[in-house]
Amino acid sequence: MIGIFDSGAGGLSVYREIVKLLPAQSYVYYSDNAHCPYGEKSPEYIIERARWITGHLLSKGCEVIVVACNTATAAAIATLRKEYPAIPFIGMEPAVKPAALNTRSKVIGVLATAGTLRASKYLDTRDRFTDGIKVVEHVGAGFVELVESGCTRGPYAEHIVSESVTPLLEAGADMIVLGCTHYPFLRPVIEKICGPDVQIIDPAPAAARHLVSIMQERGIPLASPGGFRIVLEASGDGSTLHGIFSRL
Ligand code: DGL
Repeated sequence: MIGIFDSGAGGLSVYREIVKLLPAQSYVYYSDNAHCPYGEKSPEYIIERARWITGHLLSKGCEVIVVACNTATAAAIATLRKEYPAIPFIGMEPAVKPAALNTRSKVIGVLATAGTLRASKYLDTRDRFTDGIKVVEHVGAGFVELVESGCTRGPYAEHIVSESVTPLLEAGADMIVLGCTHYPFLRPVIEKICGPDVQIIDPAPAAARHLVSIMQERGIPLASPGGFRIVLEASGDGSTLHGIFSRL
């Protein structure tokens, strides 16, 4: 059984890639939406939440945990790995490396939460892979709230998204990295604002492939004996989670 968690419904953008590769697994998805957003919270706060959720998912029988949240990965995955050495944890990181390898304008844009953009995990990766490349970073201000309120289309969503995306385009970015798992649900709006010459990069498919290879390495079966099953849980109101899930 695979445990997946995020501050909200954003991690479902990772789940939808995982389930393509592992259609006969069983899953528990935990949305910590009573404590969402994580983006502005302290690392200590996020570590506490991640620790509690991990304990909860393990009590349900999960053998591997996907931290389907860039902010929680940056703040807490090292602690979780130390505290649960027998459990594999798969995290999310902004995909700056493929963006840096493929940019023609030598400018890449990164959209993420404030917590991710100031974390040393992100800063180290960025500095390692972007020699000679200009990296323009922007918090996707209001994006998580749009997704959590189910507003992922229309003029209001376009207005909010364009406030954060336009500065990246003005700086000349031809690659935009989605560094928060909520943002792929706004992808059609982001694409509309960016136009066809800008490539949007979502790290979820790579994370799903990484999960499969870790499970194979650790001898964790890729299918569960009872076949596909998913339990959706939320610390707050579960309606957005169920709404997004039913549209997947
Ligand atoms: N989905 C999250 C991430 O990938 C967290 C968003 C938030 O709660 O601020 O960073």
